[in-house]
Amino acid sequence: MTEDLKRAAAMTALEEIRSGMIVGLGTGSTAGHFIRGLGLKVQSGLEVHAVPTSEESRLLAELVGIPLTNLTASRHIDVTVDGADEVSSSLDLIKGLGGALVREKIVAHSSKRVVIVVDESKLVDRLGRKAPIPVEVVPFAADSVSTQLNRWGGEVRLRQKDNKIFISDNGNMVLDWYHGVIDYPQLLEKQIKGITGVVDSGIFAHVAAMVIVANATGIHKLHRPA
Ligand code: 5RP
Repeated sequence: MTEDLKRAAAMTALEEIRSGMIVGLGTGSTAGHFIRGLGLKVQSGLEVHAVPTSEESRLLAELVGIPLTNLTASRHIDVTVDGADEVSSSLDLIKGLGGALVREKIVAHSSKRVVIVVDESKLVDRLGRKAPIPVEVVPFAADSVSTQLNRWGGEVRLRQKDNKIFISDNGNMVLDWYHGVIDYPQLLEKQIKGITGVVDSGIFAHVAAMVIVANATGIHKLHRPA
């Protein structure tokens, strides 16, 4: 059921894509549905180039035949389609439970428009209700950043995957900061980024132009107020 909703949201985002566009490809299961859908459109003649946000998405895009580019060859991306772990009522996001937050943020900030695709379980009134804040750190700084975040409150856990320390595509570690409800996402995003050794965090404040939400009643498009 959830997977059907994720797919429905992702398929709706295909309406945003036109021939000639440079498209940012997000990471995760919902973004994966979008990539597969885009691959089918490319096979039927749509001409796009895409910038993937992870090795996982790069492999999938190659598999389905989407021509790839990068931020050196194509400085500006027309539209990026990505998933999220939480979407607040003001359309701020927590991303990065899939571990691709740094490249996702770079690609999002290089994009004219960011479209987020989610099932309704990702909607919250305020960020931090359910998801921790992923914080990617240079491995040498994992302890010092963890100490600083702990001082600010909540609980910090070094991310593990398959009983090993998780290492991102960039060769870094990820701290999951169980912060609790976030009152000022934009401020907290800046504060986290200000800690020496932090590469970036999974708070994406003021990034999404539109969020496509799928639930049992259908598809709902939420727009960021101008
Ligand atoms: C990866 C992400 C994903 O977009 C996020 O985790 C949502 O994943 P899914 O679509 O599988 O629920 O931020 O870094």
